[in-house]
Amino acid sequence: MLSSEELRKEFLDFFSQKGHRIVPSSSLIPYDDPSVLFTTAGMQQFKPYYSSKLDPLKDKHFSLSEPLGTRNVASCQKCFRTTDIDSVGDASHLTFFEMLGNFSFGGYFKKEAIKYAWEFISTILHIPKERIYVTVFQGDDEIPFDDVSYKAWLQLGLSPKKILRGNRKDNFWGPTGQEGPCGPTTEIYVDGIEIWNLVFNEYYQSPDKKLTPLQIKGVDTGMGLERLTLVMEFPKDKEKTIFDTDLFRNALEILRKHSSNKVPSEKNLRIIADHLRATIFLISEGVRPSNTDRGYIVRRLIRRIARCIKAESLSGEWMTEVIDFFINKYKKAYPSLKSQEQIERIIQEEIDKFQKSLEKGLKIWQKLLRELKNNQQKIVPGDKAFFLYETYGFPLEFIKELAREENLQIDEVGFRKLYQQHQQVSRAGASQKFGGHGVNTIEDEEKRRKIIKLHTATHLLLQALRQILGDTIEQRGSDINAERLRLDFPFARKLSREELQKVEDLVNRKIQEGLSVIHYEMPLNEALKSGAIATFTERYPDVVTVYEIKNSRTGEVFSKEICAGPHVQNTKEIGVFKILKEESVGRGLRRIRATIEDDL
Ligand code: ALA
Repeated sequence: MLSSEELRKEFLDFFSQKGHRIVPSSSLIPYDDPSVLFTTAGMQQFKPYYSSKLDPLKDKHFSLSEPLGTRNVASCQKCFRTTDIDSVGDASHLTFFEMLGNFSFGGYFKKEAIKYAWEFISTILHIPKERIYVTVFQGDDEIPFDDVSYKAWLQLGLSPKKILRGNRKDNFWGPTGQEGPCGPTTEIYVDGIEIWNLVFNEYYQSPDKKLTPLQIKGVDTGMGLERLTLVMEFPKDKEKTIFDTDLFRNALEILRKHSSNKVPSEKNLRIIADHLRATIFLISEGVRPSNTDRGYIVRRLIRRIARCIKAESLSGEWMTEVIDFFINKYKKAYPSLKSQEQIERIIQEEIDKFQKSLEKGLKIWQKLLRELKNNQQKIVPGDKAFFLYETYGFPLEFIKELAREENLQIDEVGFRKLYQQHQQVSRAGASQKFGGHGVNTIEDEEKRRKIIKLHTATHLLLQALRQILGDTIEQRGSDINAERLRLDFPFARKLSREELQKVEDLVNRKIQEGLSVIHYEMPLNEALKSGAIATFTERYPDVVTVYEIKNSRTGEVFSKEICAGPHVQNTKEIGVFKILKEESVGRGLRRIRATIEDDL
């Protein structure tokens, strides 16, 4: 049976023998691609070769300090996906993972790629045919059925019953970030688990989602090492998960041993194991806990670890042991991993910081509970909740959760009032401290930011109304100031409370999803043809700017409007959306006033 280390090596050896250059994993922090926070796929470092921005034979590779010298390469790439953080703890989701891949930029294409994959699976891994099925792209209005891949599988002896057809959602991949190479895929499943994705890059998708055929066709494959190890170590065993494989098993055992709970929660232990492993890699690449960008992700990982530690009452040397286990597991493949001492110190400092304020805050909370009970009060006063927020860093959501456990409610209006007052005071303080910028300048800047956020919120609101009330909803007037937005639209009757709630919820969901706001220019008639929403058709110039609010990973567009901007870059910046009022303004027109609040 092949271990994860052996699988990694067998894969790279196999493709090396097939004339591929083995390229080291690039950093988790992508080089020269501001559209992505982390490296999420093996192809990230090769992106410019697919689009012919770089020539693999002539241009220097960014880290090898020489050209690749070949059109065919293979790697085992460190990847990190933030989209799955909240799902970690189940049987299959991870944040950090390794992706084995072979790539070609104009060297070979579908038939050869499928043949290589099949040869590796059958002659190196010896996985019997009965455990395998594959999928190919079925075709749609824009892109034809991938019959080349279909035939290639048939020729290799797969029965037509084992070659399933999938749609655009399932059998089309890319691009990463705002734009890039993408194309139909063929995917290999073992025991019903997708282990290998073969992407055939035939198109370049621009930020407006338009597909242009690529000059040279490319191959980009990705096989998750964790999943491969799972199906190799536990053939046909549905009970086992990636956390049972050699990549995790000992870590979980150490954690179980140190949990003081009679029945430790596997979910909590998996979260700790996954997040620790990811944190080890991120810290080794220089990311430190902070309140912004990548640092914030590490902080989030560590704080989740801290909560699980508490829930499992872990004690003793477990962290040293788990970090040691992971470093030993990976140091041969990734020699630049930092030392256990260094990593543990950084994690521990962050946990201590968080734990200290958590504990102190929880004591205050207990005292408060007693007071409320004595006075038979059911509402937590806003100032008390704000104190926990301000002094002990309890997020508002967390305080609400604590309150719910005791069947209490929070005076959120009072809380927010204090928050706003507090903002004003700290603004004045900041202006004193830094000199130069008067309070007015800071206030003006904040007003400007708020108006921009309300503007993007207006786009989300309009689209939410269209989804819930129908496509006949259009914008008949809009007015935004630093306090609120106002949107007028045609509708024959008053909106019900449920409808308003649905609209508000949908907007907030889209804010939480962290959609990207992108814009590009195009001729007016094309913009209209492409489905962009317009307001006063007659007033637009010949060339207009189109704003899209979209999921940059899946490419799914939520809203598309002709607009002059400006907007936020990511919907997360908006905060919390609240509808204040819905009323009639005559002539079959309705008006919604809404505002946004900081997400506390
Ligand atoms: N780039 C492809 C993926 O991530 C192989 O699935």
